Amino acid sequence: MTERTFVMLKPSALERGLVGEILGRFERKGLKLVAMKTVLMTRDRAEELYSVHKGKHFFDDLVSRMTGQRVVVMVLEGRSAVSVVRRLIGATDPVSADPGTVRGDLGLDLTDNLVHASDSGESFERESSIFFQPSELL
Ligand code: CMP
Repeated sequence: MTERTFVMLKPSALERGLVGEILGRFERKGLKLVAMKTVLMTRDRAEELYSVHKGKHFFDDLVSRMTGQRVVVMVLEGRSAVSVVRRLIGATDPVSADPGTVRGDLGLDLTDNLVHASDSGESFERESSIFFQPSELL
């Protein structure tokens, strides 16, 4: 089923010049870019994006590490896009992410693990609306 997913490239992806490398993996897989932009992450937006993790031991550090940093946000579209992107990026902790995945090949840090992607259609709706107006996603 054709669906959409939200992806955020975290600060280290920009700092290390890996935006093209990561985006290229999504494009080569066959996913279509619907919208993309760089944004300066505010604390409010970081807390909203990661609201499901509020109360967990890593929440404050995660929000602090993203706040004030430039990130790339995008919406991708394709067949089973949510699960396809999750498989392409690999396990949350780059130490255990499989080789061949974004985190497995390119990352080591757990908090700034290069990329965030929605884990469901509901997450896509909520997360994409933090950064994009409906008119940007037509
Ligand atoms: P992400 O896919 O952006 O979703 C939540 C983020 O929390 C996760 O990637 C990690 O960057 C971060 N994080 C930090 N510590 C942990 C942890 N112990 N378990 C899960 N996620 C963590």
